[in-house]
Amino acid sequence: MKETNLEALETAFQAKIDKDIRIEPKDWMPEEYRKTLIRQISQHAHSEIVGMLPEGNWITRAPNLRRKAVLLAKVQDEAGHGLYLYSAVETLGADREATIDDLHSGKAKYSSIFNYPTLSWADMGAIGWLVDGAAIMNQVPLCRCSYGPYARAMVRVCKEESFHQRQGFEIMSTLANGTPIQKALAQDALNRFWWPALMMFGPNDSDSPHSQQSMDWKIKRFSNDELRQTFVDVTVPQAEMIGLTIPDPDLKFNEETGHYEFGAINWDEFWEVVKGNGPCNADRIAARRNAKENGQWVREAAMAHEEKRKAKQAS
Ligand SMILES: [Fe+2]
Ligand SMILES: [Fe+2]
Repeated sequence: MKETNLEALETAFQAKIDKDIRIEPKDWMPEEYRKTLIRQISQHAHSEIVGMLPEGNWITRAPNLRRKAVLLAKVQDEAGHGLYLYSAVETLGADREATIDDLHSGKAKYSSIFNYPTLSWADMGAIGWLVDGAAIMNQVPLCRCSYGPYARAMVRVCKEESFHQRQGFEIMSTLANGTPIQKALAQDALNRFWWPALMMFGPNDSDSPHSQQSMDWKIKRFSNDELRQTFVDVTVPQAEMIGLTIPDPDLKFNEETGHYEFGAINWDEFWEVVKGNGPCNADRIAARRNAKENGQWVREAAMAHEEKRKAKQAS
């Protein structure tokens, strides 16, 4: 393509974005835009699927039938989110199998939070409340993302995330108002998940080089630090309401700005987990690989059945 031609296409593309016109799969788009979306949406899909593992760990040990049914539904929702998102990746021309292979080989990333273990039932509360809560902060602005299929997938996903957040908070508030041992379990879960939840928003803006381009393309609407601040402002009063303590001695409300100030995040820990050295990285990938290998015969049987059906129809 001639240089001037490409420039004209790029200008027209940006003009559409500036006017809030959605980009659809068959529209022309810069290669970098496509690549950024493939990376972001596939990471998001992997996070949904790997995110089923820490909670799946507690389905058989839920304290009663109601809790079990709710957790089962929640984990199943996450599978659905993963499937929407893999489909959205395919609309960009990426191959689904190759995308999943990238996860299994360690080439693709997923949210670092899912590399922490779930040690007690209270962790189901902390994850729903904090992890799904942080996911909502990230995902609500994505409903207005410039790429149509991603934006539309997010609308339904966010409705389900808000149910997830509430079921988590309900578990936490029940435990926090229970026996001293139950309250201690809830506090311990908050202590372990608070900082990893803050890390979910990604590095500080000053260390996030791709952010500006994503903002210009309206893939991202708010910066990492802005989203993290909103999360802290919303979540601290919720902890106070149920009588739990945020594990941050530097946390204080600033009357002038109307925001909470919080302590320094341990970014060394974050990067170690991203690099694959978190407590559960190896387990998570092994579980995904096993699922794929053990499900091979099911996929083959489904394909064989489909071929038979088609042959029958043709004759
Ligand atoms: Fe989800
Ligand atoms: Fe969720």
